[in-house]
Amino acid sequence: MLELLDRKETELLELFSQNDLQRRIKEIAEQINNDFSNEEELYVISILKGAVLFSVDLVKSITIPSQIEFIRLASYGNDENSSGRVKPVDLSLPNLEGKNVLIVEDIIDTGLTMEFLVKYIKAQLKPKNLKIAVLLDKHCARTHHVDVDYVGFPIDNKFVVGYGLDYKGFYRNLPYIGYFPQ
Ligand code: IMP
Repeated sequence: MLELLDRKETELLELFSQNDLQRRIKEIAEQINNDFSNEEELYVISILKGAVLFSVDLVKSITIPSQIEFIRLASYGNDENSSGRVKPVDLSLPNLEGKNVLIVEDIIDTGLTMEFLVKYIKAQLKPKNLKIAVLLDKHCARTHHVDVDYVGFPIDNKFVVGYGLDYKGFYRNLPYIGYFPQ
């Protein structure tokens, strides 16, 4: 029997509209273009699956010659809380030694995922320059310190969906970001 999704889209309250997101993403891209203006190339690492919509829109406004890579990590299971572990699903990346690297993530919550990834990339791949862009920052949920260079929007500690972010695998396709009221 088909398992019914217990949270309906009609219950969602909008937090950031499609326009809010697109406007802010263009601003972040401009900052990135300025910060890397003297550089010949940039390697953008998008974290699947959540960051895919954000990455696609961000790179469209990045003017530095860029390569785009995708890696897959998982720290959330099928519910609304971090499992407390990072599971590398696919970490295959090209040689990034001496390169400019930008990690693109949908949301930073406890910071566990990003801390793991930054340590891994710095130690194993030795880039020249490593910067981090996140669309949403749940700063009050942070238990692992990470320096984030570009933040779309700081948010309260609520579970959000849409624009790449999922609940039980659904709602990633929404063009806006919303939350389910308690
Ligand atoms: P962290 O390791 O606790 O910082 O969690 C980061 C990951 O948890 C993100 O890449 C998301 O996949 C997921 N995540 C955190 N908060 C939310 C949320 O509010 N909605 C959907 N996914 C979330």
